[in-house]
Amino acid sequence: MSGFSAEWLRLREPTDAASRNLELTAQLIAWRRRHDALSVLDLGSGTGANFRILAPALGGGQRWWLLDHDPALLARAGEALRQWAEKRGMTAADQGETLLLKDETNHCWLERFCLDLNEDWERLAVANVQLVTASALIDLVSADWLERLAQRCRTWRAAVLIVLSYDGSIAWEPVAEGDERVREWVNRHQHTDKGFGSALGPDAAPALARLLERLDYRVELRPSPWTLAAQDAALQTALLDGWTEAARQIAPEPDDWLDVWSRHRRDLIERGHSRLSVGHWDLFASLE
Ligand SMILES: C[S@@+](CC[C@H](N)C(=O)[O-])C[C@H]1O[C@@H](n2cnc3c(N)ncnc32)[C@H](O)[C@@H]1O
Repeated sequence: MSGFSAEWLRLREPTDAASRNLELTAQLIAWRRRHDALSVLDLGSGTGANFRILAPALGGGQRWWLLDHDPALLARAGEALRQWAEKRGMTAADQGETLLLKDETNHCWLERFCLDLNEDWERLAVANVQLVTASALIDLVSADWLERLAQRCRTWRAAVLIVLSYDGSIAWEPVAEGDERVREWVNRHQHTDKGFGSALGPDAAPALARLLERLDYRVELRPSPWTLAAQDAALQTALLDGWTEAARQIAPEPDDWLDVWSRHRRDLIERGHSRLSVGHWDLFASLE
């Protein structure tokens, strides 16, 4: 399946929320004020983190379609969204396949669809999509897929909010020998097939910006880096493990120094001496 566990998504959710580019969020909210009820398509929704951060900011009546190919993550989304709504004093009710979360000022209708974005999401019977969004997704996709996404958004005349796309930069503090070599291998791994053909990895967000500009969109691309402090040890450790494995898969020959590097970095994290910055892009585009 996707390789993204609910535990990994839960671990990164607060950091993702804190890292979003505030200028683009403000632009999104200004765009939203020009619309009445809103319909939103969330691609690669996982357990619904993108909804949880955007729905309160957008406010009012909202119809959401959450798309993912992982049935376990979508099932978890159902529970997580109910719990989230209850904590905020909203009521949660099932209306057939739709989950309705509401309070006095907000009405959110959510439908979840289990499908492979690589194959059949364009055939989905959704009408009048006004906002297409995705969080931590497009570094996985190919150039062809991204082009189809841009075309589809243009056909709908939808606004586009694509956040937290990895930009290729990883900066550890303190610096250690091997950091740069691992970063290069991780970035090479970023271009391997993640189910969509050769992935764009760090090139994805600038590529989408160019595609949308050619389709007459006004596009804003802004940084949204993760800035992890010593106390973010769990997230730093998960990243360290993932990158060590990615480097091992891509390294030209098995190399002892990778284990030495990994042990050294883990030691720094465990002793509370490690800080880490990981670059991302947020993109907002609209035709208005
Ligand atoms: C890094 S996670 C991000 C999840 C969520 N947007 C968030 O911010 O927490 C990437 C998501 O894309 C989904 N995904 C990956 N490949 C997919 C595909 N071919 N079709 C549908 N979903 C896919 C994964 O299941 C996962 O939920």
